[in-house]
Amino acid sequence: MAPLSEQPDWLYLLRDYHETFGTGSSGGSDAIRSHRRRVREALNRVVQADPPILGRQPADKPVTAHLGRALDLAADGPLATMAATLRRLTGQFTWEWGYERVPRTLAQRYAYCELAGPNGPVHAERIVLGLVLLAPGTTYPQHSHTEIEESYVSLAGAWSENDAAVYAPGSLIFNKPQQAHRITVGERAPCLLAYAWLGPPARLAAPGMTFGR
Ligand SMILES: [Fe+2]
Repeated sequence: MAPLSEQPDWLYLLRDYHETFGTGSSGGSDAIRSHRRRVREALNRVVQADPPILGRQPADKPVTAHLGRALDLAADGPLATMAATLRRLTGQFTWEWGYERVPRTLAQRYAYCELAGPNGPVHAERIVLGLVLLAPGTTYPQHSHTEIEESYVSLAGAWSENDAAVYAPGSLIFNKPQQAHRITVGERAPCLLAYAWLGPPARLAAPGMTFGR
């Protein structure tokens, strides 16, 4: 399996993530500043290790029919460079549902794909990176992540978390471990989020996703 350094689009994607977590403001939040710094440090370690790109079987889900539109919208937003890199890699993405039980309506409207982590494609043990794609008008039910802190960076769409605010492309939302969150998406556009997880390697390898009640 060819290493990261020989597959430049995957390397550029990590650089795009690094840039996203390096530039811009933390909004005065020490917790977010610390999270962003630790994401960059984890990314630096991955690049230095030059890990293999693990070949995974590409897979689509019904919602991936919205990916083209989401990337079109992202191309006009603040993460246009990352969107262009993602577009070059789309044929290699493995879209999944992740949960043991997925409500039937959600199965039509939601999927995620991992970009880096214990299962690859870019092998990493201390960080997981991925995309979440949600169709217009979707509610992603309440969930939380045990021992894992998470940030979502918005590439496309208008969305809300816990009815707290409306987030536009370029926004970063931070969820502490165990913090329950529920996402809703506006009616006109799909929502594409890039996420980053930090946590104990054993937990990142087996996150055990379940929906709350
Ligand atoms: Fe989450």
